[in-house]
Amino acid sequence: MSSDLSVEFTGIRFDNPFLLSSAPPTESEGNIMRAFDAGWGGVVTKTIGLHPVVNVKGPKTKFLRTDVDSGALSMRKRPGSALHSSWNWELISDKTIDWWVPRIHRIKKQYPNKVLIASIMAGSEDERELEHWQTLTKAVQEEGADGIEMNFSCPHMDREDMGSNIGKNERLCATVTRVVKDVAKVPVWVKLTPSTTDIVAEARGAFSGGADAIVSSNTFPSLTLIDPETLEFEMSVEGYTSSGGLGGPAILPLSLAKMSQMTQAFPDKSFSGIGGISNFDHALNYFLLGCGTVQVCTAAMLDHAVGPNVIRELTQGMSDFLERHADRGWKTLEDFRGIRRDRIVPQSQIKRPDSADYHGGHDAEEPEGYARVPS
Ligand SMILES: Cc1cc2nc3c(=O)[nH]c(=O)nc-3n(C[C@H](O)[C@H](O)[C@H](O)COP(=O)(O)O)c2cc1C
Repeated sequence: MSSDLSVEFTGIRFDNPFLLSSAPPTESEGNIMRAFDAGWGGVVTKTIGLHPVVNVKGPKTKFLRTDVDSGALSMRKRPGSALHSSWNWELISDKTIDWWVPRIHRIKKQYPNKVLIASIMAGSEDERELEHWQTLTKAVQEEGADGIEMNFSCPHMDREDMGSNIGKNERLCATVTRVVKDVAKVPVWVKLTPSTTDIVAEARGAFSGGADAIVSSNTFPSLTLIDPETLEFEMSVEGYTSSGGLGGPAILPLSLAKMSQMTQAFPDKSFSGIGGISNFDHALNYFLLGCGTVQVCTAAMLDHAVGPNVIRELTQGMSDFLERHADRGWKTLEDFRGIRRDRIVPQSQIKRPDSADYHGGHDAEEPEGYARVPS
C-alpha cells in the first residue's frame, strides 16, 4: 500500500508537504511547470513587486564548499569538497507584474490541482506603498494563485521600507499583513526574516494582522570570504561587496532554532519551514517541531535547477519513514507533527549531574578547559 503524503495546510490541500521556495527555481513559467512535473507538492513564485529591479553585475549566487580534510572554505569548484552553503545577493524578480499575470494564469490552467503560492513585496512608508500590496494581491489571486506569501524577509533591499526591514518591526508586520488580509480571498502566509532578536515578536505581529501561516527562514545576512591569495572577496563587483544571504546546509540548525521559538509560542498556528533542506531527514526536523509544510531552495538549484532528484528523495524518504513507523499507527504527517516541539526547554531546566559526581571547576585534578594537554 502506498503512503498518504498529502497534507492540508492553511486550508489548501497539497499532494505532499514539499514546496519549492521563492527563488531562482520558481522564477519562470517553464521552471514552475517542470517542478510540478517532477512531483513538488507546490511552488512559491519568485517574489513579485511593482518597483523596477536591477540586479548587480555578474553572478548573483555562488556556493561555498568545504574541504573534508583541511577544512578549507571556498567558492572555488574543486573535487572532494562538500557543500557548506549558498550565498546570494539577488533581488526579487526583475520581471514586472504584467509579465507574471498571464503566466500565473497559464500555469494554473494547465495544473489546476497543483498549488501555486505567489510571493509578493511592496514597501511600507506611505499609503501608496500599502496600496501596492493590495494591487499585487488582487492581481495574482484573480489569475488563480492559491495563496499569497508576503515577503518580509529579503535581507538586501535598495529601499529601507521593504523586505527584512518590515520583518524587523512587530507593528509594521501587523499593519502590512492586515492591509493584504483586507483584500485577500486566499490564505496569506508571511515570510519573516531570521535577522531579528526575538522572532516571536514579529510572528505575533503578523498573526495579529491576520496571517494564516508564518514561513521561516529566508537567508541569513552574511559576507563572502576573502581569498587568501588575491585578498579579494570571493564575490564582488569591481572590488566591492556587500552583505548578502546565506542559505543551504549551514543554516539548517540556525533556522530550526528560530522555528522552534515560534512553534512553541504559537502551538496552534501554521508554520512552513525553510533552510538547509536537501533530504527527508532534514525536513523531518521541521515537522517534528510542528511545521505543516517545508520549502527548498539551495538543494534544488544544484539539482537541474528545480530539484527532480531532491523531490524524489523527499517523497521516498517520507514514504519509507511512514512505513517504518506503521506500528505506531502513523499514517500521515499529522500523526507525528510537533512531537518534539516541547522537548526544547530553557537550559536551566536541563538535568545536571548529581553533586557527588560533579567536580567541575573545583577539582584541581581536572584538566583546565576541554582539551587535555598532550603528554
Ligand atoms: C539566489 C536566491 C534568490 C532568492 N530569492 C528570494 C526571493 O525572491 N524571495 C524570497 O522570499 N526568498 C528568496 N530566497 C530565499 C529562499 O527562498 C530560501 O528562503 C533560502 O534560500 C533558504 O533556503 P535554502 O537553505 O533551501 O536555500 C532566495 C534565495 C537564493 C539563494
